[in-house]
Amino acid sequence: MHTQDIRRHFLKYFKDHGHSIIASSAVVPHDDPTLLFTNAGMNQFKDVFLGESHRDYKRATTSQKCVRVGGKHNDLENVGHTKRHLTFFEMLGNFSFGDYFKKEAIQFAWDVSTKVFGLDPARIYPTVFREDVEAFLLWQAHVPADRIYRFDEKDNFWSMGDTGPCGPCSELLYDRGPEYGTATNPHEDKTGERFLEFWNLVFMQYNRQENGELLPLPKPSVDTGAGLERVVALKMGVESVYETDILRGLIAQIENISGVKYEADDARAPAFRVIADHLRAAAFLIADGVMPSNEGRGYVLRRIMRRGMRHAHLLGAKDPLLVKLFPTLQTMMGEAYP
Ligand code: SER
Repeated sequence: MHTQDIRRHFLKYFKDHGHSIIASSAVVPHDDPTLLFTNAGMNQFKDVFLGESHRDYKRATTSQKCVRVGGKHNDLENVGHTKRHLTFFEMLGNFSFGDYFKKEAIQFAWDVSTKVFGLDPARIYPTVFREDVEAFLLWQAHVPADRIYRFDEKDNFWSMGDTGPCGPCSELLYDRGPEYGTATNPHEDKTGERFLEFWNLVFMQYNRQENGELLPLPKPSVDTGAGLERVVALKMGVESVYETDILRGLIAQIENISGVKYEADDARAPAFRVIADHLRAAAFLIADGVMPSNEGRGYVLRRIMRRGMRHAHLLGAKDPLLVKLFPTLQTMMGEAYP
């Protein structure tokens, strides 16, 4: 299975390069009131970046289950309408806690993209924060300067939330070709479908305060996140994250149960995508201790479930559908996330 292979090879590469493999934390950050859900691999290391706690390793790698609904990073309304957004996804990451910084982070990301993922080096376009001359120069060891694009804060300065660790970032985009739009470079690509972002390298340098002030972190660090489903889509050469093995497997099961055929460009296709995505989000939220309710995290879960059920209804399902899909999900993801 592509997803399992890529997850495994990614973790192995970083283990071979001195990183400790750490298990995913829960999708619910029970001890962090600033966050509704785990939105990135770095969440479980927030205190380490801030210098408030210490681990017996300086390099780590994870495959982190993430939920981006509510809060600063919210993709709920995009799901169903685009072919690359998910409320639940897996983020592959490597982390340095005051150990290596930009040069090695860029080198690792380049090696993994081209050798482990096997992507075409000529189609990778790095972006950098407009003021980050150092990252711009470092990328030139791998790609010509005219393929490196500068962006402002909105795209290339990453923050976990309204407060906490943050820093300039550098993204790796993959040119999927003219069938995905006429834009000839990342600046022109307003939809982000042609130049697909698949990896973000954050150079963690600041702790954002409530008044917006940026205080330097004790040690410059690295936090990276690659969207596993996007990498698998690129690797499989498919148009959408919903064509990757796990999500397409769930969609196949929705077809079996509902008797409706999935056609990616059909008017009913968004319903299949919403159901497959929301099933994963709901299942992982419940597994990590959230229950549907009228407030807070439980309310968001209820909204996700209700939206999934509504789309099942739109497909003509007369009986509960999500529960019948769950065993398929368990078969596909239960081993990685028992
Ligand atoms: N924290 C960054 C992100 O979520 C990189 O992992 O994009």
